[in-house]
Amino acid sequence: MIRLEGVTKRFPNGQEALKGLSLSVDDGEMVFVTGHSGAGKSTLLKLIALIERPTSGQVIVDGQNTRRVSRRKVPAYRRQIGMVFQDHKLLYDRPVFDNVALPLIIAGVGHRDASRKVRAALDQVGLLRKERQFPETLSSGEQQRVGIARAIVSRPKLLIADEPTGNLDPDLSLEVMRIFRRFNEVGVTLLIASHDIALIDQLGCRRIALEDGTLQQQADEDPVAEYVERYEAERERDQWQ
Ligand SMILES: Nc1ncnc2c1ncn2[C@@H]1O[C@H](COP(=O)(O)OP(=O)(O)O)[C@@H](O)[C@H]1O
Ligand SMILES: [Mg+2]
Repeated sequence: MIRLEGVTKRFPNGQEALKGLSLSVDDGEMVFVTGHSGAGKSTLLKLIALIERPTSGQVIVDGQNTRRVSRRKVPAYRRQIGMVFQDHKLLYDRPVFDNVALPLIIAGVGHRDASRKVRAALDQVGLLRKERQFPETLSSGEQQRVGIARAIVSRPKLLIADEPTGNLDPDLSLEVMRIFRRFNEVGVTLLIASHDIALIDQLGCRRIALEDGTLQQQADEDPVAEYVERYEAERERDQWQ
């Protein structure tokens, strides 16, 4: 579903957010991107959403090389991807229903069809009875669930979320993750940036750990550790000969 090949992102000020990054996420996976602040998590998600373009390397999403998606085609490209942000990005002068309906209205979906889809999405996040309320009358966790409903209302195959539980307490965070898990169970691929390791471990999902714009060296892939291990094994064997 997602493949990065040697992706570097250098910003105009010279800052390199990603450095020759290669990774892949299979169709139907639920994967977390972890790493300290500044590791490159948001930049990775922005490249997938075509909010940013790579300086070099390839970003391939659902078989499409994003390099070939022209600026004119970006809106259509983005419609296939659901996006969830830490700060919700809701319209506060519109009720919940309108917020969730927004992507469908932009896509020109008819009113009756849109209503049905909005209600289904609100039902999936447990907010069906709040469709007439305005976002500021909802709790932070509920507002985040409105953001999730809006992200999935067009039934995307891929959902990307940037620190979706960053402002939530542990209970609400787990609830949001359970909602994501349910989407995953019906086949949606999810890529979620988070630094809440405890929560991720609880879910038992694969982790892509970023450090300073590259993949963090895994302990079992550490060439020095592997060398030391082999050296010690050989020495032990020699002792018995
Ligand atoms: N628009 C930008 N211009 C310059 N530097 C940026 C920009 N966006 C991000 N960066 C830098 O790129 C690095 C990675 O940022 P980011 O992807 O936001 O990391 P994370 O989401 O893991 O905290 C940071 O050093 C950040 O300061
Ligand atoms: Mg970030």
